[in-house]
Amino acid sequence: MSARPIALQMSPFSAYLESGIAQRFEVVRWFDLDEISRQALLRERGPQVHVVVTAGHVGCPVDLVQSLPNLGVIAINGVGLDKVDLALLRQRGIALGTTPNTLAEDVADLAVGLTIALLRDIPASDAHVRSGQWPRAERPLARKVTGRRFGILGLGQIGHAIAQRLTPFGPVCWSGPREKAVAWPYHADVHSLARASDVLVVACPANAATRHLVDATVIEALGPQGYLVNISRGAVVDETALAAALAEGRLAGAGLDVYENEPHVPEALRSLPNTVLTPHVASATHETRKHMADLVLANLDAWLHGQPLPATPF
Ligand code: 8YV
Repeated sequence: MSARPIALQMSPFSAYLESGIAQRFEVVRWFDLDEISRQALLRERGPQVHVVVTAGHVGCPVDLVQSLPNLGVIAINGVGLDKVDLALLRQRGIALGTTPNTLAEDVADLAVGLTIALLRDIPASDAHVRSGQWPRAERPLARKVTGRRFGILGLGQIGHAIAQRLTPFGPVCWSGPREKAVAWPYHADVHSLARASDVLVVACPANAATRHLVDATVIEALGPQGYLVNISRGAVVDETALAAALAEGRLAGAGLDVYENEPHVPEALRSLPNTVLTPHVASATHETRKHMADLVLANLDAWLHGQPLPATPF
């Protein structure tokens, strides 16, 4: 490589990570370019692009990979693989880096936080005090968290961390593609899990098998006293069915950190009083994002030196 290789940056990152990438590559902030500029860059400088650095929920579209003849590595600042075509990358010999063993604790902490905020109406109570309404009215009663039945959909590293955190609150059960040797009861079927839960927490990966896995029938099985928490991917939940069930009182509430079309969240969800909504921040702490950034940079350095990536799903 004569000139410094170009790295396409697909998403904003922390100043620390952006600085690290810029020290190693000529950076093009792809997410800042309009379509005309993107096409011009691919036409004029596409062969100089050797690196893509992206977020887990952003990935790298197939058509972009196919427009980059010399792409050597995609470094994901995250763990989700649903936005990259693994078969295409393997076929092209493109290295893939991720950040495993960095964010499960944070994501699990947020799942518990959303659960408590949702059942105890914390956002509405905060607004009640800030608006000066408290002298004129008390808040309505909320719902007890301790003693609730918790269902975890997906018992991978994140789901397992959630189950550990929720066990002291109440009975935990789970569902996934195959049973595991864990203490929590297993449900082979997601409807059975929903029927056995007061709070259903979605923690499974997004893929063809889990797309809209939580649909109107699962929401019905969870029932009008049930709650849904999603810290996985928006694609796992049928968002239209969810909004309808919440609006019509067929589901008590939802705590969401992920959505089908981020960063755009349907008005139908944003306008509801029985939702707690966060903007995909489950891993967004100083400590975890520094840990993730160091792993992204370690992956990039390994690729630059022709070494195996220290953190890759391949
Ligand atoms: C990432 C995520 O932290 O890990 C993933 O796949 O979706 C997030 O939690 C986010 O993509 C920031 O890069």
